[in-house]
Amino acid sequence: MAALKRSARLQGQAGKGAARQQRRPRHRRSAAGRSPPAAAGLSEPQKQAAAAPLPPLRPPPRPADFKLRIAQQFDARAPGYDAGNTYHPPQAARLVQLAALQPGEEVLDVGTGTGLVALAAARLVGSSGRVTGVDLSDAMIHKAAVKARAQGLTNMRLLAADIEECAFGAGRFHAILCSNALPFLPDIPAALAEWRSWLRPGGRLLFNAPKASRGAGCAAGLGVGSCAFTVFAQVAAGQGLLLQDPCSLFSEEGQVRRLLAGAGYSAAAISVTSELNLRAGQTPEHWAASGWALCTSLPFADVGAAVGEEGLDAMRRQYLAAAAEVAAGLATPEGIAEPYEMLWVVAHA
Ligand SMILES: C[S@@+](CC[C@H](N)C(=O)[O-])C[C@H]1O[C@@H](n2cnc3c(N)ncnc32)[C@H](O)[C@@H]1O
Repeated sequence: MAALKRSARLQGQAGKGAARQQRRPRHRRSAAGRSPPAAAGLSEPQKQAAAAPLPPLRPPPRPADFKLRIAQQFDARAPGYDAGNTYHPPQAARLVQLAALQPGEEVLDVGTGTGLVALAAARLVGSSGRVTGVDLSDAMIHKAAVKARAQGLTNMRLLAADIEECAFGAGRFHAILCSNALPFLPDIPAALAEWRSWLRPGGRLLFNAPKASRGAGCAAGLGVGSCAFTVFAQVAAGQGLLLQDPCSLFSEEGQVRRLLAGAGYSAAAISVTSELNLRAGQTPEHWAASGWALCTSLPFADVGAAVGEEGLDAMRRQYLAAAAEVAAGLATPEGIAEPYEMLWVVAHA
């Protein structure tokens, strides 16, 4: 049984009830409005001011209630998370397949959400095995527990908890899986090292994460698997903000290998896939509006607090114009097809 460093609500021994990112953005200063004004027609002091280097970009503050924001965001997404989701379920299924789980194994699913990974893992390890799913969001865990009960799975335990506050015993798990959740952790190297200690000798860690890289079709792909974030970061740079890409640790394979070696893993198999996320039926304007909503709700940085109401309003106008232009380039007859690259990692303790 996991010892929790702080409090966590156990949503179910399923069957017993449910329970409870620095890479400098490749922004284009002129496009973002930070170019010095043209010198013609300026007074001498104005010319000097114009020639002076621009102040360095500053990172916006990480919200003090970072974890609470994540939990609230996923609480809100939980009811509709599974329906029509063409992004997370196939990736979760692929991660489980890569794990080649065996009957009797003990598995941890970090950031389990609605249990996409955990439920599939529980079926594979069978009644002699056990799966523990951990998630910050009560509502996501509740949904996972409802699904586990409906499927008659009694070999699962679902915990509403912060993985950074969990203390599982050393050498406990055969496998630790984490699908699309690692970039949410504030200290990824520390988390990877701790998870390694929870693995049995030879046990495996599997995770996926959007690769931070230039994506085809994006002006300057920054990662988070999203052209929308790329545009957002460029517009933020116009306000003097340096947005940290939560996927900055995943920009190239050698970097990921070094990260894992530093956390004590012995070998890593890393592959990268390029995929298209089709937003069926979306027009460029819809895509721009939903991208703004998504980027301003990301929990990693309090952009509103950093730029104030007027700054945010200016950003919104610039964003909507720039994003509509990017989206026009991504438009297909079926909707917006947004390119992204995923990293798939298998590492051994
Ligand atoms: C994008 S969802 C992915 C969920 C699921 N793995 C899937 O494939 O659908 C990321 C999940 O990670 C969870 N999460 C983020 N930070 C966490 C933390 N510190 N501890 C536990 N869960 C966390 C969120 O609550 C959210 O449910």
